[in-house]
Amino acid sequence: MSTTPQSKTGVGAKAETVLEAQAPAFSAREAEAIAQRDFDIQASAHPLDSERDQNFRLRAKNGSEWVLKIANPAENPALLDMQTQALLHIAQVDPSLGIPRVRATPDGALFHEIDGAEGRRFIVRVLSFLPGQLLDDATLHPALGRDVGAMAARLARALRGFFHPAARHELLWDLTQAPALRTRTHHIEEQGRRRVVEEVLDHFGAEVLPQLKMQRAQVIHNDVSCMNTLVEGNRVTGVIDFGDLIHAPLVCDLAVPIAELIREHPDPIAAAAEITAGYHAVTALEDEELRLIFDLVSTRCAMEVAVANWRVCDHPENTDYIMAGNQEAGAQLDQMREWGAERMYTALRRACATSVSIEVSDFTRTPSYEDNMQSLIERRRQRLGPELELSYDKPVHVVRGEGVWLIDDTGRWLLDAYNNVPSVGHCHPTVVQALARQAATLNTNTRYLYKSVIEYADRLTATMPGELSVCMFVCSGSEANDLAWRLAKAHTGNAGGIVMEDAYHGTTDAVYELSPADYGIDKGRTLAKYIATVPAPDGYRGQFRRDDPQYVDRYVECFDDAIASLDARGFAPAAYYLDLVLCSNGIMIPPPGYLSAAFKKVRAAGGLCVADEVQSGFGRTGDHMWGFEAHDVVPDIVTLGKPIGNGLSMAAVVTTPAIVASLMKETDFFSTTGGNPVACAVGLAVLDVLEQEGLQERAARVGAKLRSQIEKLADQHPLIGEVRGAGLFIGVELVRDRSTLEPAAKETAAIVNRMRELGVLVGIEGPRCNVLKIRPPLVFDENHALQLGACSTRCAGTRRLAGASSTRG
Ligand SMILES: Cc1ncc(COP(=O)(O)O)c(C=O)c1O
Repeated sequence: MSTTPQSKTGVGAKAETVLEAQAPAFSAREAEAIAQRDFDIQASAHPLDSERDQNFRLRAKNGSEWVLKIANPAENPALLDMQTQALLHIAQVDPSLGIPRVRATPDGALFHEIDGAEGRRFIVRVLSFLPGQLLDDATLHPALGRDVGAMAARLARALRGFFHPAARHELLWDLTQAPALRTRTHHIEEQGRRRVVEEVLDHFGAEVLPQLKMQRAQVIHNDVSCMNTLVEGNRVTGVIDFGDLIHAPLVCDLAVPIAELIREHPDPIAAAAEITAGYHAVTALEDEELRLIFDLVSTRCAMEVAVANWRVCDHPENTDYIMAGNQEAGAQLDQMREWGAERMYTALRRACATSVSIEVSDFTRTPSYEDNMQSLIERRRQRLGPELELSYDKPVHVVRGEGVWLIDDTGRWLLDAYNNVPSVGHCHPTVVQALARQAATLNTNTRYLYKSVIEYADRLTATMPGELSVCMFVCSGSEANDLAWRLAKAHTGNAGGIVMEDAYHGTTDAVYELSPADYGIDKGRTLAKYIATVPAPDGYRGQFRRDDPQYVDRYVECFDDAIASLDARGFAPAAYYLDLVLCSNGIMIPPPGYLSAAFKKVRAAGGLCVADEVQSGFGRTGDHMWGFEAHDVVPDIVTLGKPIGNGLSMAAVVTTPAIVASLMKETDFFSTTGGNPVACAVGLAVLDVLEQEGLQERAARVGAKLRSQIEKLADQHPLIGEVRGAGLFIGVELVRDRSTLEPAAKETAAIVNRMRELGVLVGIEGPRCNVLKIRPPLVFDENHALQLGACSTRCAGTRRLAGASSTRG
């Protein structure tokens, strides 16, 4: 028996007190008056559900949102104090964790006492309101399960150094007190169910509890449940309700989310494994703890059944509410008994063995002098050279990435609407795990036989049409384009190249020649004599525009000029290169009919057609996996990079057996790290995630919404000249005058910098630096699009101008 004094929330004699005591019953008007008088918040109050307290959501005039919490008069003030102190502690040690922040009164008091009816006194507190969707309403897929586990672990980690004299209070939902519920099981009417619950509780008391008492213990949240966890897309953004804080074995914290989230899950053990692996990645679980999880989850279910049946006897009027989860908890208990402990333990152990530990201190540190922005910039300048560009007037010092978010050194979450390389989301757990698992197993090169490189080549080529059936693996987009150049020259015997004006294809010596965008033409350099350019088929501001019905044909005819000009210089085309989203030209999708006609002309002159899918590939354009598929053409060579490895340096060339054979007649090909087992494991994981999470379809859906949102903005903001792109590759051209099309470069820079200040990252593109570049990780969803739209609305009228700062990448 516990020796602590009976509290008001345990199973003991006074257990019902808080639940029995009449909940506070203040009106919304009274709540508004309390907020104004005692907390200096001028706000409208809206009641929130609460069984035993009274909570109001406050919407303040300045846009901030708060929760006014009026505690049940029977609540132990020491427990309220513990919750408040815990919130303050967490906010200090892990400021980036999404938890409510405590709002003090103007005198610095953490709570305020007010008088109510019949001489009762009430403790009132104010916490910040956390936005987000409840996990209860979200679909659980693997990434989310992991994130729930990781959030539980981060919370517990933040609470490690915390203690409070009330932490050992008696609590109904304290797993270590589960055997006390044995005195209440007679309320369970259904005999079979009662027997199972009793067996589980008895087993727990006799076998599990002695083991549990030997595990590490601390204050834990103890209720990371569906109703307390906030999510956005695949990401957990916060946890609320610290009412079940308790000093208990650490591993108990995992029992609540597992017990709830695996319920009705099609593969409950896999779901439990995901949550556990997410936890383990932050705080490594010990083997003994892993062995206990099955019993802790079963016991939690048994507790739910016992408590529901007991409470419904006292409150028959609330039967529906109290018994809501009873059936499901009971069914889960039966199912778990069928599995047995070993099966779950094996799955959890395997999941943890392949999970990767994250060093939490990496992102909870407060910035020291060393990390200070100016000093970092200075050191970078010295070591990397002064010319290496940094994006934004106020550069972003990033320490962590997650999904569509980049987190800076102050713990601020920035919505990443710019980076297409982490295409399936920053640090996607499936990709990270694949990388770690393979790096820990084997990494070698393609001179050895291993399956993954073949499997990966199979998977890639299965997405390509025609004879595009051979892969050559390298490490960057530039290298892929460089290799494509060698292939084209070897196969055609020609040495000329045709590229778009303002094209960019990479950094090697050969590819640099194919990249007028970066070639220093503005600095007086001229392109190599074997290169000819054609204008981008820009129907908005190019030399031929959409108002001319023949404008596409006219752009196609430019190929005749390019071929003739090469011929005049003694060259025939070996290859024509095209970036399918014409990124460096200011982002545009070639008009229908253009590409097939252009390919015909190039081929007739003896050249090959190279689709540079480094920017456009891997589902980015939404309707297709590859950009060229929208144009009814089959290129001779396809080059892949950037999103292929979600950030790992890898790239590929996909071409036909005949073209490869031509190069091999002349020379050999081997890349030391290209196509190594780690790269292949990552490449396969990226393809898996793209498929499993339907990211290409999402790019089509969310991209279309985002474009139409921005188009609507154009009605109010004449600065917006044209909105272009496909899927989640969007360009917004800004002009000072819609008739003269005068480029609004300074305004573009000002908007990009202002959006960065507001927490949304976008970039600048195009030869005139007047195109907003929006190409977020593909896990970007409708809510993120709304957030971006709201931010652009605030910025579109911006008057403050800034110097351009490039964001090429
Ligand atoms: C269309 C295109 N091709 C190739 C490259 C070069 O890729 P990497 O920087 O990986 O060498 C880039 C880079 O921005 C690109 O935009």
